[in-house]
Amino acid sequence: MSATISVGQTLTDAVSAADPSLIHLSAGGVSLVLDVRGSRLPAIVHWGAALGDLSQRDLVDLAVAAAPQPIGFSVDVPVHVSMLPEQSAGWLGTPGLSGHRQGRAWSSAFTVTGSRRERRGADDTTDTVIVCARDEVAELELVIEVELHASGVVRSRAQVTNTGDDVYWVNDLSLFLPVPEETAELLDFTGHHLRERSPQRTAFTHGLRVRENRTGRTGYDSAYVLCAGSAGFGNRHGQVWGIHTAFSGGSRTLAERTFHGRSSLGGGELLLPGEIGLAEGESYTTPWLYASYGEGLDELSGRFHRYLRARAQHPRSARPVVVNTWEAVYFDHDLDRLTRLAEAAASVGAERFVLDDGWFGSRRNDTSGLGDWTVSTEVWPQGLEPLIKVVNGLGMEFGLWVEPEMINPDSDLARAHPDWIMAAGERVSPTARSQQVLDLANPQAYDYLLERLDALLTENAIRYLKWDHNRDLVDAGHPGTGRAGVHDQTLAVYRLLDELRARHPAVEIESCSSGGGRVDLEVLARTDRVWASDCIDAHERVMIQRWTSLLIPLELIGSHIGAPRSHTTRRELPLDMRAGTAIFGHLGIEWDLTRASEDELDRLRQWVTLYKQVRGLLHTGVLVHGDLSNPAYELTGVVAQDGSQALYAITATATSASYPPGSVALPGLDPARTYRVRPQPPGDIADGNAADWGAALPWWSPSGVRLSGRVLDTAGLRLPVLYPDRVVLIRVTEAADQA
Ligand code: DGJ
Repeated sequence: MSATISVGQTLTDAVSAADPSLIHLSAGGVSLVLDVRGSRLPAIVHWGAALGDLSQRDLVDLAVAAAPQPIGFSVDVPVHVSMLPEQSAGWLGTPGLSGHRQGRAWSSAFTVTGSRRERRGADDTTDTVIVCARDEVAELELVIEVELHASGVVRSRAQVTNTGDDVYWVNDLSLFLPVPEETAELLDFTGHHLRERSPQRTAFTHGLRVRENRTGRTGYDSAYVLCAGSAGFGNRHGQVWGIHTAFSGGSRTLAERTFHGRSSLGGGELLLPGEIGLAEGESYTTPWLYASYGEGLDELSGRFHRYLRARAQHPRSARPVVVNTWEAVYFDHDLDRLTRLAEAAASVGAERFVLDDGWFGSRRNDTSGLGDWTVSTEVWPQGLEPLIKVVNGLGMEFGLWVEPEMINPDSDLARAHPDWIMAAGERVSPTARSQQVLDLANPQAYDYLLERLDALLTENAIRYLKWDHNRDLVDAGHPGTGRAGVHDQTLAVYRLLDELRARHPAVEIESCSSGGGRVDLEVLARTDRVWASDCIDAHERVMIQRWTSLLIPLELIGSHIGAPRSHTTRRELPLDMRAGTAIFGHLGIEWDLTRASEDELDRLRQWVTLYKQVRGLLHTGVLVHGDLSNPAYELTGVVAQDGSQALYAITATATSASYPPGSVALPGLDPARTYRVRPQPPGDIADGNAADWGAALPWWSPSGVRLSGRVLDTAGLRLPVLYPDRVVLIRVTEAADQA
């Protein structure tokens, strides 16, 4: 049914290694204390700030200190709330496992059979606890894995196996981590096309907040990171705990607070009815649940970023400047036109040229051709080779757009294989963007795609795929049986990506889904960046990028400089605002540069040059944000890991109530060091009306000011008066004379 958790050796091994104790995992400034005493499922005694060295006796005292007293009119034993809470233990909140055998075995009572602690990861830095359990009555086995990474990120998942001889139906399998009662507020995300990852805050009250995603992809409106924090927590202050359910199909992410004083965050896959029916010996494994803690959101993010950057496959080469053809030419593919675009792209310093939608089959607009992954002889009579030659000749890599999981009814593929289209039995869902979804659990459909994509990558010098996915999965079943198919589809896409990467390890892949509809850590385990949004209006992008970067670091977030007038909002913005926002990501350009003026191209070249100078810093440093009381301004910065330098952006997104605005602290620097702080060209044009009248901000000059990290993070610097929708950059370098 699903990949089996590899628990190193075997379950029996774990049994013999059983160690009934309290286990203290500690790394990256975080402690996780697990109670695996006796035969009860593991419970978390503490998850949060590091506790220092603790003996087994200290841990026992900690567990005693944390244990609640029994209350009247509840069960007459202490309620044991494990990571997989069970009703059989007296827990009446959301259970970790919900399933049945024709109505029986609907409630579990697992007994731990063994646990093991082991080191994982390339350099053994991941401290892991594996717990195995069995429910003899329900005829189920369970494995829970909990990892604490060097970054301080906790990762956990569970696997249930049916040991009975009739089918066990899994409705839901979720894991939970406790958060303290002092968490008063929740932060999670919503959104839609062109406005992904829009934050929403609510009070953390009694009851259950469930963020369900039924879109069959990660979703624009996914919970993304569900955070619980102390009242008013911000970027730099307040304790905050957050979880991310890493799955690109259906998901459930939950925050639950009961009157018993139990508060927790949890997550798992959202399974459709009948998706997981386990025959004897079959297993189902949950997605990974990622969890991070911080004093303020920046610290929480920093741990996620460190986790991602430590992965073996994390992109470490300089992130090349991309030119993407979509908003430049849309479906108007023409070698001459694209050659001129490529020349203009190279002239401003682009390093990768990506041909978007429209190059294959009958795809002259968005109503036909999906599925026919053969170069169109109509628009590319000599194949892609002539364009690739031009692009490579100009010193750029070539990239190509694909949307493998989709099929237009108006395509040769659909005409030949109508039975490859996902459907609830006889009923095919309404089209969306004139397209349907290919059933990748069908081995023939899967093999067809693998062969086509493999051939494209083998026959052409393609170094990059933009992998798109432009519709929700509606009524998405396997056409033959009519059974729900989102789970199978999601795993099949992962397999397809894995197989292609294995065959073409030099090819990078971008995860796109109508903009930012597929941004999660499981798709990122097999891709190299995400397309955050189809909205490249810099005003909107300030927030989209800020919140996307809550989970993932800047080098994984595609951010493009668009045309002067945004195609998706009709807002007109100056180039400095567009570029100054886009460099805080993996920079690209999506603008018909053949129509740009010489002045615009010159200015763009300066921005690309700056990006190349600072990308090493932006893509390895620590991301920080100000906690500004002035809602008209945002402060984002990246500080080098060694504290020697930083780059900050001050963005005005509205007019300011205070005029001139007050000061802003520059966070994240070394308090003991002295820095030179100055405006960074070309982001040094503070064109607010005060400057227009000749009234300059005293420190806004090429020599700037010289201040310590402590002063900068405490007293700060006076903000410049800016027109709305302006960004200026501040460069901070360690002063040569430290005295
Ligand atoms: C949706 C993507 O988000 C866009 O960037 C573009 O690739 C179009 N699809 C192409 O159809």
